[in-house]
Amino acid sequence: MVDITATEAWRELAAHQQHLFARSLRELFAMDPDRGRSMVVDAAELHIDYSKNLVVPETLELLTALGREAGVEQLRDAMFAGDHLNTSEDRAVLHTALRLPADAELTVDGQDVVADVHAVLAAMAQFSDRVRDGEHTGFTGKAITDVVNIGIGGSDLGPAMAYQALRHYRHARIRCHFVSNVDPADLTGTLADLDPESTLLIVASKTFTTQETLANARAARAWLLAHYDGDQDAVAAHFAAVSTNAEKVADFGIDTDNMFGFWNWVGGRYSVDSAIGLSLMIAVGPDRFTEFLSGFHAVDEHFRTQPLDRNAPVLLALIGLWYSNFWGAQTHAVLPYADDLARFPAYLQQLVMESNGKSVARDGGHLTAPTETVVWGEPGTNGQHAFYQLLHQGTWLIPADFIGFAEPLDDLPTPDGGSMHDLLMSNFFAQTQVLAFGKTADDLADEGVAPELIPHKVMPGNRPTTSILAPRLTPAVLGQLIALYEHQVFVKAMVWGINPFDQWGVELGKQQANQLLSDLAEPAPPAPLADSSTDELVRWYRTARGR
Ligand code: F6P
Repeated sequence: MVDITATEAWRELAAHQQHLFARSLRELFAMDPDRGRSMVVDAAELHIDYSKNLVVPETLELLTALGREAGVEQLRDAMFAGDHLNTSEDRAVLHTALRLPADAELTVDGQDVVADVHAVLAAMAQFSDRVRDGEHTGFTGKAITDVVNIGIGGSDLGPAMAYQALRHYRHARIRCHFVSNVDPADLTGTLADLDPESTLLIVASKTFTTQETLANARAARAWLLAHYDGDQDAVAAHFAAVSTNAEKVADFGIDTDNMFGFWNWVGGRYSVDSAIGLSLMIAVGPDRFTEFLSGFHAVDEHFRTQPLDRNAPVLLALIGLWYSNFWGAQTHAVLPYADDLARFPAYLQQLVMESNGKSVARDGGHLTAPTETVVWGEPGTNGQHAFYQLLHQGTWLIPADFIGFAEPLDDLPTPDGGSMHDLLMSNFFAQTQVLAFGKTADDLADEGVAPELIPHKVMPGNRPTTSILAPRLTPAVLGQLIALYEHQVFVKAMVWGINPFDQWGVELGKQQANQLLSDLAEPAPPAPLADSSTDELVRWYRTARGR
């Protein structure tokens, strides 16, 4: 494997950073007034302006050279072809196959992938239509009004985020709910308002072994059976499952006719476009779901075919890596100027951080360079009244993605006859402008600001942002946005030399929790554990619980 930090491109980037460090975005725009027109890239319907980043054309040449040295193009082609890039689990990585059109061809490891994907999509569509049309009813014949998706991580965040994002396209009768947390407050709070007779429960779990999901699923089954006086036949009418594990689904008592499968080449955090999206399909309908998939596919094609220097996910990934590896950035903000995308940052946290939060290379060697940053964010303009102060005048460099739309799905008039959506977007444009160019002491003095206030009011600027715009928030555009970030994760991982498709780091905590569970519940005081802190915390908890 290439040690990327030992390459010529890496050394040149380090030297180049020293040179660029002395330049401000004000200067870069003065030197090249056309940046705002030249540093843009379109991917499907996404219009991306990366000109307000701390880069010049030479930076991008060096970064793409780095990508080439890391073999990004070959590795990208290998992923699309179904090579086993998930080396630690010896699996292909084929979320891109989930959105291939029906007439595409792809056979991997002897499996006709496209045929299998479309067979499941057809079954999902049939089931969704039956629920939407009121043909698939509850046990007593009532039409389904509420769908509860029980899953966690990739089996929750994707459909929950997309259901909210596509609020405008939902079926009028059907509401979806998403239960993920093993905190019983989540399930109890959700079921409290629901009528069991018109509720469909979807247990979504790739492995069907996840502790939180099974605990919630069992509790939901008990809630249902309590209503039907223990009549087990009610379970078949009210439960469906999404999983790769048919055996465990059947053991749970769910009719496998109501089970929708996927494959081990779909990672949990890459699965919203698989059967894991069943709740979403029920909400928005199969046609909209097909549009959602076509959006992913459009960006897949862009990523697969465009040269590195015109390739949106590649450019954004390399610019992100530029900040974490050469400028010391530790976090990255994602700021949607669309309330319907409120859960998008949370969705990206799993996609990005579970994929690339690694310090070991694919071949087991230790990495010498920092890898993924913390991803966080909130919708604008709420963030402006919470944490933007730190973005503008704090001491950290925090690159940020601003996401916005031209046409509103909802708009309201302002008292002066204007548009509230324009109000929202004027904040988007103003924030990116102020973050980039700030305000100098001279500007403030010219405005007559009192000298003692000038240091407090100086806006340093030089805070990098990327603006991502699209015509409107449609299912296709949502698919495009997700694919844009999926492929960025891939590119960064390939440059760092890590496997973004496993997540061994989450296993030990699961094992420890299982071990500690018996210590919490046992009547006898638990045997001392390995450390005095955990022993004392468990003792305190047991005492507080009267044990
Ligand atoms: O958090 C670990 C993880 O394995 C995620 O990768 C996954 O999305 C989540 O748990 C849920 O897993 P499952 O779909 O198998 O229940």
